[in-house]
Amino acid sequence: MTSIPKALAVFATLFYLSGCSTLPDQQAELSTDQPTVLITGANRGLGLEFARQYADAGWNVIATCRNPAAAVDLKTLALRHDRVRIERMDVTSDAQVAAVAEKYAQQPIDVLLNNAGIYGDLESQTLGSFDYDELKKVLDVNTIGSLRVSVAFLEQVLASQQKKIISLGGGMGTPSIGRMFGGHYFMKMSKAAHLSAMGTLVADLQHTGVMIVMISPGRVDTQLMRDSGWTGKSTPAETAAAAVITLIGRLEPDMNGRLIMFNGKTVPW
Ligand SMILES: NC(=O)c1ccc[n+]([C@@H]2O[C@H](COP(=O)([O-])OP(=O)(O)OC[C@H]3O[C@@H](n4cnc5c(N)ncnc54)[C@H](OP(=O)(O)O)[C@@H]3O)[C@@H](O)[C@H]2O)c1
Repeated sequence: MTSIPKALAVFATLFYLSGCSTLPDQQAELSTDQPTVLITGANRGLGLEFARQYADAGWNVIATCRNPAAAVDLKTLALRHDRVRIERMDVTSDAQVAAVAEKYAQQPIDVLLNNAGIYGDLESQTLGSFDYDELKKVLDVNTIGSLRVSVAFLEQVLASQQKKIISLGGGMGTPSIGRMFGGHYFMKMSKAAHLSAMGTLVADLQHTGVMIVMISPGRVDTQLMRDSGWTGKSTPAETAAAAVITLIGRLEPDMNGRLIMFNGKTVPW
């Protein structure tokens, strides 16, 4: 028979996961004996896999997402790992990004993972049916959001040992890949502008030891891939995240500013 304390604990866990309760009291301070990763868009897809795998490897994980109350998988992860913190952070919000940066002002961040992204509605970015409001949304998340987050947490990255700012994707923003097929304007434009912003950041941060690298994970089976209209072969998020994490761990100084495929090949841009 289940004991009363155990039954209460099960009830409390279910209540917490259901989103009816707020997050458990989370200490902002994380241990200093392990490296720290901050991930944007960590509630699903690749972001969730990054959170899981870094947590399993013993890292401190600051997992950010737009709606923590609904982030059931992340909350389950945080129940298993006391080094996982969940924070509300919409990358399009100056106030939310500033609030999380302030909360973790003293926390060195070894890897800042700009993962949050949207594809945007496909028809709206097809010649003949452009919707420029959709373009603004895509730029707001993919381009402005990743720059906003990179700058907001720069001090914490500079204070860390590894000093890495990593962004997901970018291949579609390169002329070599972007011109291979028509359509998909807004996604391509947002990633091209993102590459430009990160390239400029590389120049501004030279001699600081910060490494800025864009990593293309390949075609990964996530919501974003489905939004792109792709129905061909794809890699499970678990496999792709593992490959990206391995690559991040093996980055060499001469890879600074590069766009690198998940298999380690550089994409010129
Ligand atoms: N999947 C692929 O084949 C592929 C290929 C190349 C590059 N990438 C890149 O990989 C990254 C992750 O994408 P994914 O494939 O894992 O797609 P996904 O499953 O659709 O996940 C996207 C994540 O971004 C979050 N997000 C969207 N808007 C946000 C905002 N304003 N603020 C904070 N978070 C926001 C989403 O949160 P909500 O649940 O709140 O919407 C979700 O957690 C993207 O940058 C994408 O460009 C993916």
